[in-house]
Amino acid sequence: MKTAPELSTPRDVGVVIVAAGSGTRTGSDELKQFRWIAGKPMLLHSVQAFQARPDVAMVVAVLPKLYAGDPPPWLFQSDLERLLISVGGRERGDSVRNGLEDLPPEVQIVVIHDAARPLVTDASIDAVIARARLGDGAVAAVPEVDTLKRINPNGVIAETVSRDALWRAQTPQAFPRDMITHAYADAYANHVSTTDDAALCERLGFRVVVVPGSERAMKITTEDDFARAEALTLLPQ
Ligand code: CTP
Ligand code: MG
Repeated sequence: MKTAPELSTPRDVGVVIVAAGSGTRTGSDELKQFRWIAGKPMLLHSVQAFQARPDVAMVVAVLPKLYAGDPPPWLFQSDLERLLISVGGRERGDSVRNGLEDLPPEVQIVVIHDAARPLVTDASIDAVIARARLGDGAVAAVPEVDTLKRINPNGVIAETVSRDALWRAQTPQAFPRDMITHAYADAYANHVSTTDDAALCERLGFRVVVVPGSERAMKITTEDDFARAEALTLLPQ
């Protein structure tokens, strides 16, 4: 007899959504991760996208210290039994580390996601989790399409870099729990800092693969990006 997918899917995925940045490049008074985009606050998009999945055991939303004790009320429009709030740190890596520490014991697969990528697709989430279940780290990424130039400080082109094997890394990224815990512990001990979680696994020799990301999952960085991301929602997924 065929079992319903809900019953056969293990609920062992823990998600860390980092939302503790200060959004300096948007230059607005309100934190970008709390601003509305495509119909709801940015952070709520990813919280709900992950909580819609039967394999997700817990979502840890990492918030700036000022908000962790008093989160925005709309955050409670989610499944509170599968929501924890953590306090962010100075750098993104510090925020991830705090979130990892709060994951419950049943979590085997860890997904890390930037709140600043609200329009994450379920296909990318599926793909990173599937690879992590096979024991690899997995990064949602898109192939580079522009020609790349390495330039001198004075703007003169020193080299044209082949884009053939170049991909742009996004989030979500997923890892077996042991891999990412080990990678963050080692990075901390050796004062290694990066804004890319996979890089910390790569430096220890773990295998990390790319899976298809999407342009919709672009990172909201500047003010213009709000309109750009909204426009992308008009395209088919
Ligand atoms: N982030 C975080 N803790 C930090 C820094 C960043 O949780 N100390 C989160 C951001 O909230 C965001 C993601 O990491 O969801 C990617 O960071 P980025 O896009 O750089 O956002 P900010 O750091 O907030 O923006 P800026 O760099 O312009 O200040
Ligand atoms: Mg930043």
